[in-house]
Amino acid sequence: MTDLWQNSMDHAVAAARRAGQVVQQALQDDRKVMTKSSSVDLVTQTDQRVEQLIIQSVKEKFPTHRFIGEESVAAGEPCVLTDDPTWIIDPIDGTTNFVHAFPFVAVSIGFSVNKQVEFGVVYSCLEDKMFTARRGRGAFCNGEPLQVSHQTDIKQSIIATEFGSSRDPEAVDKIFSSLRNVLCIPIHGVRGAGTAAVNMCLVASGCVEAYYETGIHVWDVAAGSLIVSEAGGVLMDTEGGEVDLMSRRIVAANNRTIAERIIREIDPFSPTRDDAP
Ligand code: IPD
Repeated sequence: MTDLWQNSMDHAVAAARRAGQVVQQALQDDRKVMTKSSSVDLVTQTDQRVEQLIIQSVKEKFPTHRFIGEESVAAGEPCVLTDDPTWIIDPIDGTTNFVHAFPFVAVSIGFSVNKQVEFGVVYSCLEDKMFTARRGRGAFCNGEPLQVSHQTDIKQSIIATEFGSSRDPEAVDKIFSSLRNVLCIPIHGVRGAGTAAVNMCLVASGCVEAYYETGIHVWDVAAGSLIVSEAGGVLMDTEGGEVDLMSRRIVAANNRTIAERIIREIDPFSPTRDDAP
């Protein structure tokens, strides 16, 4: 059977690799830092340049496809997922890491059709790890198949999470109370790479049992969500039930037992949705 989206996926892998080279090169140069929604929501010219490079290259090859790109949305483009083939792009996931040369930075490209992610590509460019997943066909890192951890005991687990970029005291309180609850289950430890996409790839690789966060955006998690599920993991909302990629809340876990155990400890809150008018 021919694979309708294989050409697009091959293009995404090539584009992510080229983008990763630009990011690596930019790490050698002076990085001019700007801010977006707040003084801790950072962006650089490299984020903007890389997003444009990816979008231009896709437009030339697939002129009818749509885009949701982190920096395009910041510049005023709509963030609406339709049934059309849509590229969901985070040119640098881990911009704060990039600014500080903290060595986890990823290019994340998800591709959705009928609001379902068909493939996901996450290139962790400083590690030179290319994570890929195609719906129904498994998840891979540099061509090797990925499998989530088999652990079902939360007390034998490592959980990844992040503090995000909100400094609203109410949100920060909820993040800390959730973190305290999860840590004191007790679990073996808490980790965070500083990029949602890499955290999700760590779940898919079996290095951590789960990752949860409130405040992420659709471009941070679209590609990673398929990589986790194709590696055998599950995705849920932080209050249980199905994940909604526009809701800015996610639990990505190796299995339902671990996901539901974490959800019991999360103090939920609801940031403004990505697709809010
Ligand atoms: C951020 C990273 C970070 C997460 C934030 C994201 P960005 O993405 O994924 O780990 O905590 O919620 O916004 O801004 O570097 O693309």
